[in-house]
Amino acid sequence: MRKFLIAGNWKMNNTISVSEELMTGIINAISNKSKEDLKNIKILVCPAFVNLHKATLIADATPILVGAQNCYPESKGAYTGEVSPDMIKAIGCDYCIVGHSERRTISNESNEFINKKVKLLLATNITPILCIGETLEQRQSNNTFNVLKEQLDCCLSGIVAEDVAKIVVAYEPVWAIGTGIAATTKEIEEAHFWLRNYLNTNYGNAISEQIYLLYGGSLTDKNVDETFAIKNVNGGLIGGASLIVDKFVSIIEAAIRIKGI
Ligand code: PGA
Repeated sequence: MRKFLIAGNWKMNNTISVSEELMTGIINAISNKSKEDLKNIKILVCPAFVNLHKATLIADATPILVGAQNCYPESKGAYTGEVSPDMIKAIGCDYCIVGHSERRTISNESNEFINKKVKLLLATNITPILCIGETLEQRQSNNTFNVLKEQLDCCLSGIVAEDVAKIVVAYEPVWAIGTGIAATTKEIEEAHFWLRNYLNTNYGNAISEQIYLLYGGSLTDKNVDETFAIKNVNGGLIGGASLIVDKFVSIIEAAIRIKGI
């Protein structure tokens, strides 16, 4: 059965000591939650590469999962500065974010390049968290669903349905990321309904129903209740608010309240 996934994207924040403090803070704060409370909730944090190994050691035997924020779509070789899915897997990570809008913009990553990452991650038994989303200009010119379709068509190209079922899709409108302006409930509802429908049409109902659809973009402890109450929202990808223990834990508590039953 699909659970509910709360994922923290720490981005390029936190030196090793701060990363450790944040990990321990979250673990301590959720230590008073019962097994029953957490049974339907998955909690994931994605620290920077250099802090990943320590994070997996701290997370060991706790309910916290650890994931990477990126990878390179080759197994090994002369790719100076890059990190392969094998390396991520070997230190105990089971998730990896791909296609984040910051990488699409800053590092010019194309849908084709992201598609290669998704395929190699799946082959390495790592769950890709595939980020998609439109810019403000694309939304204002009524192109949101064309953009989402193009991103999904290309990023999922050549992947069989049973593998697509393992992917997490994060809908992150670019204009909502880090701006403090989250999408409205109606906008999220529409986009997630469209996404479920796309997956249903292309891969069938059984596969579509297994896929986690996360919302990301200025999701905080203040707007989490209304967001998590939306039918096709199966979790959140959280940037800024995942860097503060109290805020991240409030988001986890909202998930327990709303979806954990
Ligand atoms: P934000 O970032 O929560 O700070 O808007 C979300 C993300 O980039 O995944």
